[in-house]
Amino acid sequence: MEIAIIGAGNVGSALGKGWAAEGHSIVYGVRDPGAPKLREVLSASHGKARAASVAEAASSARIVVLAVPWPAARDALSAAGDLGGKILVDATNPLRPGLDGLAVGPDTSAAEQIARWAAGASVVKAFNTTGSGNMEDPVFHGEAITMFICGDSEDAKRTVGQLAGDLGFDVVDAGALVAARHLESLALFWVHLAYNMGMGRDFAFKLVRR
Ligand SMILES: NC(=O)c1ccc[n+]([C@@H]2O[C@H](COP(=O)([O-])OP(=O)(O)OC[C@H]3O[C@@H](n4cnc5c(N)ncnc54)[C@H](OP(=O)(O)O)[C@@H]3O)[C@@H](O)[C@H]2O)c1
Repeated sequence: MEIAIIGAGNVGSALGKGWAAEGHSIVYGVRDPGAPKLREVLSASHGKARAASVAEAASSARIVVLAVPWPAARDALSAAGDLGGKILVDATNPLRPGLDGLAVGPDTSAAEQIARWAAGASVVKAFNTTGSGNMEDPVFHGEAITMFICGDSEDAKRTVGQLAGDLGFDVVDAGALVAARHLESLALFWVHLAYNMGMGRDFAFKLVRR
């Protein structure tokens, strides 16, 4: 499957490397496709990744992952152009600069705002509730950690769920896109534990069932 990832930072590169290792083709949509810092990201992708402009990347894949800082989301989406008919995976977290709260919500979410900006795209919230290091290695002591996803299109969620499963996550469907309000709050809680409580980044959430 060809996957466009807008942003080749911590999250974009973790997802891209993992999917490339599973045989998917990655096109990173970036502001400077020739930037030296992309060399390590591309060379870690077994010849399955390339870099292009944001517009070219987004137009060449049916699945587009948004992995940019929240304040850049609107610009990145307008650079991507028309995303109608595509699956748009929103990995952003609208963290306030001091990491002490969310800049969006509680009566809406970044994902719902993104869905308004990217009219016609099927938005799925995913890959926002754990650290990027865990996206590269989502197995703790033999147990797959949980990746919660939500969105209004069952087809789009099925596809994104498969992609999360390819990375090794235990995927849990959290419902319609409105549930992104909970997923973004859960991400804030992960950040609180990591930084305010000194737990570091090497922990993750796992849903257990009886
Ligand atoms: N880090 C985590 O563990 C983590 C976990 C879950 C979710 N998230 C969320 O995921 C998103 C990305 O986080 P990150 O840690 O990967 O950030 P990052 O390492 O800072 O990378 C951000 C990427 O976005 C690109 N970018 C910035 N502005 C852009 C624009 N206007 N148009 C196109 N590309 C632009 C940057 O490109 P340049 O090189 O050109 O600046 C860079 O490649 C954030 O919303 C974050 O809250 C992060």
